[in-house]
Amino acid sequence: MEHGRVKVMSIFGTRPEAIKMAPVVKSLAQDESFQSIVTVTAQHREMLDQILELFDITPDHDLDIMQHGQTLTDISVRALRGLETVLESARPDVILVHGDTLTTFIGGLAGFFQQIPVGHVEAGLRTGDPYNPFPEEMNRRLTGTLAAMHFAPTSGAQENLLREGVASDDIHVVGNTVIDALVSQVSEAFVFDDPELRRIDFEGSRVLLVTTHRRENLGEPMRRIYAALLEILTNFPDTSVVFPMHKNPAIREIAHQYFDGHERVHLVEPPEYRTFANLMARSHLILTDSGGIQEEAPSLGKPVLVLRDTTERPEGIDAGTCLKVGTEIEEIVRRCSRLLADDKAYKQMAHAVNPYGDGKAADRIVGVLKRRFGLKSSHSELAQEV
Ligand code: UD1
Ligand code: UDP
Repeated sequence: MEHGRVKVMSIFGTRPEAIKMAPVVKSLAQDESFQSIVTVTAQHREMLDQILELFDITPDHDLDIMQHGQTLTDISVRALRGLETVLESARPDVILVHGDTLTTFIGGLAGFFQQIPVGHVEAGLRTGDPYNPFPEEMNRRLTGTLAAMHFAPTSGAQENLLREGVASDDIHVVGNTVIDALVSQVSEAFVFDDPELRRIDFEGSRVLLVTTHRRENLGEPMRRIYAALLEILTNFPDTSVVFPMHKNPAIREIAHQYFDGHERVHLVEPPEYRTFANLMARSHLILTDSGGIQEEAPSLGKPVLVLRDTTERPEGIDAGTCLKVGTEIEEIVRRCSRLLADDKAYKQMAHAVNPYGDGKAADRIVGVLKRRFGLKSSHSELAQEV
């Protein structure tokens, strides 16, 4: 501790971690009890920088590790080496990591090596299959093993941790910080900057918003997904596809092969978060293998077809807004066509529910940290874990 303030280092590296840690960084910065330090591995570069700019976060340490074609080993080695140096000089009292990326796990490991306690934000999500999603399921389990504090978004995640033997006192059900980030972003008055997005007729056509990036979907599964989309576009002439392409060249190459020249497919650069949130809000339907989008879409009332064989986010499925469809052409076409042809089926999915929290997760995390370090907490901070 420095001048009685607890030094909290938030470590993140990719777009989704940045979106979901931004509310925590903001809450810490507003509280005099803490000195907030931000370290980014920059496992992502442009996609991370978009978020840092939007939320006005200037990292204290930037490891700048991203390389094109980086392997899991490349990311791990570069992040671990860089974090050792940063942790040795900054000596935080506690480290926060988020979610399931390699930066998450390596951040936890680097903290463990320095014997600094680690708080895991968005803890306890599980599919039960170590290879699916790959390597995220294992990253979550390993980070859970290393962590001293587990910030679970839902009671289901809490139960997963209890089942694995985590002490109940170390688990705090706080909601998902993604909802904190999302609430401020969507508005009817929002105007898209990108001319390609402005060209889209959201009133006169049904817009299918598509994203794919999972490592286990690279190659053949992704080809099948894109082939299915072409079939759907042919069968439903009033639909169009908006496809923000992840920066991974391996994905973009396949996307260009399938969609270049198609007049109803808009291949666009990944929009920054505010634009993307408003794009979700104006779309008819979302098809994605993303994790975060499965959490956001239910609160926007947008049906999601999950292009994966497993999900660690059963809440959206239980609530009826998300439907797991896998990566086989026939199944994607069948499920999507039903939603496009049957208004009743569509309406059953398109209702806003929010199983992931009330937008106050970040404040709850800060409240837990205060208690943990014996600092005074206001009544409202102590009030409610969910
Ligand atoms: C990573 C995470 C995944 C998370 C996803 C969110 C791991 C192993 N994977 O997957 O859990 O769901 O981020 O999007 O931690 N690239 C750029 N610019 C960027 C970002 C990526 O050019 O801003 C390109 C680079 O060529 C890079 C490649 O994308 O090598 C893959 O990035 P990487 O972080 O390894 O994997 P993701 O699929 O993005
Ligand atoms: N997102 C974004 N721009 C895009 C695609 C996604 O801002 O072009 C946001 C999305 O709203 C969500 C997060 O990025 O909050 C999800 O990131 P991604 O799908 O890359 O990772 P995952 O959640 O699967 O780990």
